[in-house]
Amino acid sequence: MSVTSFRITPNTEPTSAGDRAAILADPGFGRFFTDHMVHVRWSASGGWETGEVRPYGPLSLDPATAALHYGQTVFEGIKAYRHPDGSVWTFRPERNAERLRASARRLALPEPDTGTFLEALEALVRQDVDWVPTPQHHGAESSLYLRPFMIASEPFLGVRPSRTVDFHVIACPTAAYFAGGVKPVRIWLSSHYTRAAPGGTGAAKCGGNYAASLAAQQEASAHDCEQVVFLDASEHRWVEELGGMNVCFVFDNERLVTPPVSGTILEGVTRASLLELAADAGLSVEERPVSIGEWIEAADSGALTEVFACGTAAVVTPIGELVTEERTIACGDSDGGTVGPMLRRALLDLQYGHRRDERGWMTRLA
Ligand SMILES: Cc1ncc(COP(=O)(O)O)c(C=O)c1O
Repeated sequence: MSVTSFRITPNTEPTSAGDRAAILADPGFGRFFTDHMVHVRWSASGGWETGEVRPYGPLSLDPATAALHYGQTVFEGIKAYRHPDGSVWTFRPERNAERLRASARRLALPEPDTGTFLEALEALVRQDVDWVPTPQHHGAESSLYLRPFMIASEPFLGVRPSRTVDFHVIACPTAAYFAGGVKPVRIWLSSHYTRAAPGGTGAAKCGGNYAASLAAQQEASAHDCEQVVFLDASEHRWVEELGGMNVCFVFDNERLVTPPVSGTILEGVTRASLLELAADAGLSVEERPVSIGEWIEAADSGALTEVFACGTAAVVTPIGELVTEERTIACGDSDGGTVGPMLRRALLDLQYGHRRDERGWMTRLA
């Protein structure tokens, strides 16, 4: 399937230029959507049909649609960045395509090939290219967030893989995650809830993982924390990840340590990229289990100079405090450290076209 094979049905009532400019000036996240969406249908009998770019709008679903009952859904999150010359690029999309396929396999959904995935992003971004923010709209870190997702669309209440599936891509402009500059966050340690178990769906980007994290997130909010960190399900001892981001530790300003991706955590594209950028910058990089005991002891002793969360949405987010049932632990140097900010800058410079893309990580969309 190539871009030209996507049928284009233009929106006859697109957002006016004035309304779009007002949205782009203050887009927030996930609130406003562009004028079009991608749709590709799959059926067990006929495989993938020709994709289409069509006006953004509600889906009409039978109340018995399988996804609504059994959560047979997977999704991705990836951004399109405007470069200084006006062109639009995305970051390592083959990895998101591979991850979507891995998620789909785990959820017994069909696997779109990488070519179709990339072409779907390209077709949508070309159609809605005016929605990709420029630095003038909302500062240097605004982008167009792309949300590919697949749902089991067969109206059938039996518990088995759906025989029809719909793949969509929608897009929303998004501002810098931290409007007033990067601020350290407080993280709640979930001692009761876990996110993923061996053999479960932790490594898949599926709706159920996020539904299951919400009660812990409510607990976090009740303790004035922005995010939750989960421990492993077997021993309640090993640090896994946050509800929507991976976690990295910096010891003595020179060793970057992050838990290994062993099936229960999501293999973040940001995480993998930061590990390479850190090695380039001369840091030693270790993927190894980190216990909650090690985290707290190293924070108390001062050996832990930084902790940060990483992901597509917030890039690199410093963790200032870890909050547990017993106490609040200050994490890392009070000045916020240097490694996280350095890696954040390196990644953003690459994504926004201010640094040479030596690895071929960027793909042009428009
Ligand atoms: C649970 C979870 N972990 C980690 C990540 C970070 O992944 P990425 O860097 O690919 O955005 C995300 C976000 O997609 C996530 O939802």
